[in-house]
Amino acid sequence: MRKNVIFSVMAALLLGTGVWQWLFAEPDVASVELPATTDAIERGRYLVAAGGCISCHKGTEHPASLSGGMALHSDFGTFHVPNITPDTDTGIGGWTGADFLRALKHGRRPDGAFYYPAFPYPSYAGMTDQDALDIGAYLMSQPPVSFRAPAHVLPGWLHRWMLAGWNRLAGLLNPELVQDADPGVARGAYLARHLGHCGECHTPRNVLGIADLRREFAGGVLPEGDVEAIDAAALSHWSAEEFTLFLSLGLKPDGEFVGGEMEPVIEHNTSQLTDHDRQALAAFFLRAR
Ligand code: HEC
Ligand code: HEC
Repeated sequence: MRKNVIFSVMAALLLGTGVWQWLFAEPDVASVELPATTDAIERGRYLVAAGGCISCHKGTEHPASLSGGMALHSDFGTFHVPNITPDTDTGIGGWTGADFLRALKHGRRPDGAFYYPAFPYPSYAGMTDQDALDIGAYLMSQPPVSFRAPAHVLPGWLHRWMLAGWNRLAGLLNPELVQDADPGVARGAYLARHLGHCGECHTPRNVLGIADLRREFAGGVLPEGDVEAIDAAALSHWSAEEFTLFLSLGLKPDGEFVGGEMEPVIEHNTSQLTDHDRQALAAFFLRAR
């Protein structure tokens, strides 16, 4: 009897520590050097546009830099976008290659704490290591700007450690997305799902704010209101030319210009892409239906 109790307690402890380790495990990231070649920096500049980083990180006080300050309102409180210039006190001065991989691909701070998904790392997680490192190379090549964004304004019950469970749940609830065999479609999928994070606004979420990838691009909700669906059904009347023109200028087939939260996406992201990448996005969104 006593033995049974001891055994049960030990089993519970083991299981408990197992679950704990699974939830809070450090991401497995190699300690890599940040590239510093002009090639890497140039690729990084392009990827920062394709990643839509400017829409959020553009400085409110110093608009020529990525020094942050913008307030992002959500159901879970107000987040203030941080400074990602290489300033040591107020920005990301001293970040290593591993720090960029951890942040962009795992949503973890250099000190191990969790980022809030107001930073769309769930989308960026699918980015290649090379792209994440090139982005780091570009950011570290920029002049440091001293600016500290205000603290986030969040409900008392919300804490960073809770994201441990959120991240694991998001992984369990969502299917693995399959890579398309066609290289153009695959490139478009990479740009849309990961760098361009189109689903962060256009995919519905559950009550915990986890994107429902089974209904990918079926329309989302922002504090400003509902966001259109951009799945195959919704775009069935768009031609590839109309779609690429939209990505360049924000002009829709009905002759109206898109507005709201989509404007900065066009301005800082899709209009800056190569024609080749805009065509890849069109190939992905308008694929076989
Ligand atoms: C939708 C808005 C949004 C976009 C787009 C966005 N970020 Fe952020 N980013 C945030 C927010 C909000 C945080 C702070 C999250 C937190 O405090 O947990 C953040 C945090 C960061 C951090 C960590 C900074 C620190 O001091 O720890 C880095 C680095 C970063 N972002 C880089 C990028 C890059 C690179 C891109 C583009 C590929 C990008 N972000 C796109 C909103 C955004
Ligand atoms: C920050 C949120 C956000 C992101 C990220 C975003 N969108 Fe949008 N998008 C919107 C909103 C909001 C609208 C509606 C704007 C309006 O009311 O005019 C919209 C409209 C659109 C439309 C027009 C739909 C229609 O039927 O009128 C298309 C197409 C579109 N987005 C494609 C994209 C693509 C492709 C991406 C990724 C490269 C993307 N969006 C990323 C918020 C976003």
